[in-house]
Amino acid sequence: METRVHEIADGIYRLSTFVPDIAPPAGFTFNQFLVLGDEPLMFHTGLRKMFGLNRAALARIIPPERLRWIAYGHFEADECGAMNEWLAVAPNATPAHRATGVLVSLNDFADRAPRTLADGEVIDLGGKRVRFIDTPHTPHGWDAGVLFEDSTGTLLCGDLFTQLGDGPALTGRDVVGPAIAGEDVFQYSSLSPAMGATIRGLADLAPRTLALMHGPSFTGDGGAALRALADDYDRRASGRFAIESALAA
Ligand SMILES: [Fe+2]
Ligand SMILES: [Fe+2]
Repeated sequence: METRVHEIADGIYRLSTFVPDIAPPAGFTFNQFLVLGDEPLMFHTGLRKMFGLNRAALARIIPPERLRWIAYGHFEADECGAMNEWLAVAPNATPAHRATGVLVSLNDFADRAPRTLADGEVIDLGGKRVRFIDTPHTPHGWDAGVLFEDSTGTLLCGDLFTQLGDGPALTGRDVVGPAIAGEDVFQYSSLSPAMGATIRGLADLAPRTLALMHGPSFTGDGGAALRALADDYDRRASGRFAIESALAA
């Protein structure tokens, strides 16, 4: 395996590792994102067992010890498995997450005390500003959240739009159809009743780039893509609740 590095928006780098053995024959990508600034931030630590690959990839952009912030979407191995490995190589790095995540996992899991972020709270990286947005149970995880970088209009959207296969680092092609197909295969989302509304709230940010954790980054009308995705989750959720109502009757 190799980890490829591309700049997908000004000062935002995608570190991508393709794993052909997951969901073969299509395979599956794992992406981490580095947001440059006076205080560089990494979004997703990556899997613990991929730490060596990701560390070598990040070192092609900045010395890993310069990392100041380490954030992730929700508590799972691909999102934060290598947290303590990164903290060990970056002595000034602080883990950052929303309050629920800090309370239920990060306070115990992280080797260094985390910073707790309120919904909408901004970290000024010096040259870039990232806003932490709560998305509980969207697409999964009580502690779920995403990041929005203001200057580039980039939404670091984690597992939203998860798709199979490898692809370009950055695309202007449809990411909604492949995301619907990915949901059909993995069924990874919670399908909470609020999911559509939560995703529409992200659309209101009018992102110009969507940084997918599992798939290519998307450049274009991110708001339209998010609204189309929200419509599909409303469709899935209404079907699920119709079935549950029928069973309960
Ligand atoms: Fe996940
Ligand atoms: Fe993920």
